[in-house]
Amino acid sequence: MGIVKLTIDGKEVQVPKGTTVLEAAEQIGIHIPRLCYDPDLSAVGACRLCIVKIEGMRNLPASCVTEVTEGMVVHTDTPEVIEARKTILELLLANHPVDCLTCEKLGECLLAKYCYEYGVLKSPFDGEKRHYEIKADNPFIVRDMNKCILCGKCIRACSEITGKNIIDFSYRGFKTRVAPFGDTPLSESECIYCGNCVAFCPVGALSEKQMLNLGRRWNLKKVKTTCTFCSTGCTFDLRVKDGKVVGVTSNPDNAVNGRALCIRGRFGTRDFIHSDKRLTTPLIRRNGKLVPASWDEALDLVAERLTEITKQYGPNSFAAISTTRFTNEEIYLFQKFVRAVIGTNNIDHYPSPCHGAMYREESYCNESVCEFAGIATLRCPNNLQGASDMGALSGALPGYQRVDRQEVRAKYEEAWGVSIPGEAGLNVSEMFEHAIKENLKAMYILGENPVLSDANSEKVQSALTNLEFLVVHDLFLTETAALADVVLPAASFAETDGTFTNNKRRVQRVRKAIEPIPSKANWQAIINLSSKMGYQMDYQHPEQIFAEMASLTPLFAHFNYKEIDKQGMVWP
Ligand code: SF4
Ligand code: SF4
Ligand code: SF4
Ligand code: FES
Repeated sequence: MGIVKLTIDGKEVQVPKGTTVLEAAEQIGIHIPRLCYDPDLSAVGACRLCIVKIEGMRNLPASCVTEVTEGMVVHTDTPEVIEARKTILELLLANHPVDCLTCEKLGECLLAKYCYEYGVLKSPFDGEKRHYEIKADNPFIVRDMNKCILCGKCIRACSEITGKNIIDFSYRGFKTRVAPFGDTPLSESECIYCGNCVAFCPVGALSEKQMLNLGRRWNLKKVKTTCTFCSTGCTFDLRVKDGKVVGVTSNPDNAVNGRALCIRGRFGTRDFIHSDKRLTTPLIRRNGKLVPASWDEALDLVAERLTEITKQYGPNSFAAISTTRFTNEEIYLFQKFVRAVIGTNNIDHYPSPCHGAMYREESYCNESVCEFAGIATLRCPNNLQGASDMGALSGALPGYQRVDRQEVRAKYEEAWGVSIPGEAGLNVSEMFEHAIKENLKAMYILGENPVLSDANSEKVQSALTNLEFLVVHDLFLTETAALADVVLPAASFAETDGTFTNNKRRVQRVRKAIEPIPSKANWQAIINLSSKMGYQMDYQHPEQIFAEMASLTPLFAHFNYKEIDKQGMVWP
């Protein structure tokens, strides 16, 4: 590919042939204003705000659709260019309602931003205003076509990103507007409510219904994190106000999904985190009933019963099923608890349920959102990869290091100050068989609901009811938790720092946005339980857990939060 040399505002720049003037300017830190351009969409040159002066050309071309040529001399801010941009903004304002005082998008609206920057207060053109009805015929998207600047980004997002063609320009001339085919309501179209059109809309024409009146955009803190609904591991921003997640918006700075999200990630996350079905306190079974208890009472009881049972029947009378949805740090700590504190390799997780036909995940699916969109919930849990990587396997320590290899064990034994059994433990299905045969007496199930998700639900139920002691640690009172002797409430991904590993083995950061709803992060609960059982784990932050894991695991030896923070890190 040839290289083209040109000059922009007196600075020389070399870029590959085919680069546009706007992109070339960006490379040397010159921002050209734009409304219809987005690097993730095809360029159409519709709004003309990105015009520049190019020596030798009579008109002011749109820089987003003009390719560089050798020796080109570009000026991005001559008085002529600035005047022309002002006129473009004035023309846009001529039939714009300028409702900024109450507009949901103020703070993120590009029209308001550029009008401010160019000192455009109102339009000298007394244009006719549009009077369209504001449409909110669905639970997710509000459409105010009075504010639409006809940039067409939503149309391109729908067809190029989502792969749908739900919306297009309808009518002509002054009446032109964006609408589903035949100008039907969105709710009568084939729209899947991914909200990708909303994410690209530069103004207040499209907005998220769930965030209406919940705060001005600049008051909604942005916490960049990784979605928890499936193993794609999309990045987005949780928007937070007064300690509550009020919504989700796209954060294009990532290597996985750009601005694109699905309905569950964008519109289901908030209601999942703040579901009124979340467990907020531990529960202890008293006289056959689960009743609320303090963390201390619950953890004391778990510590006491697990100590008694493993003393009486040996450590292999205990088994643990790990989550495939919590963070790597929590899974690492959980298998460490099982191996170092209890002294067994009876730990496993459900393998690849997404490939089985029986998998359902009601507890994790936001019902109203999923039902509305008719979403099939057959997807891999978000940290299935991490569960294996972190050693939630009966035969392997983190990084697939076999537990029957003496030199592997020796490394962990030295680091953890315990001895680790050399024979592989029970896998999930063996656990249930052993429980039925009464060789297994106690189980700890972290963030998993086998009574619902296992293909053989009846067997699981009879196995679990056969145990002397069952602990379930989860976000909701699931069918499995309902059978437990102690239920520990789990914190969601929004309530902790950590990492998830997606289905392409990209380890990505999860960042704490709000305080844990059950008042304890999952890793803190495991640390507390360990110390009640006489084994101290000293971590102040999940980063320390990750660092310990990496130091003992060749696969992740060079992984650290600092690098992961950027765009995640991929193994191998
Ligand atoms: S879309 Fe932008 S310019 Fe229009 S009312 Fe909203 S904030 Fe103001
Ligand atoms: S929500 Fe998604 S499917 Fe519906 S119009 Fe917008 S981009 Fe298209
Ligand atoms: S609705 Fe938004 S994204 Fe779509 S054309 Fe109008 S201003 Fe552009
Ligand atoms: S950004 Fe170039 S024409 Fe709109």
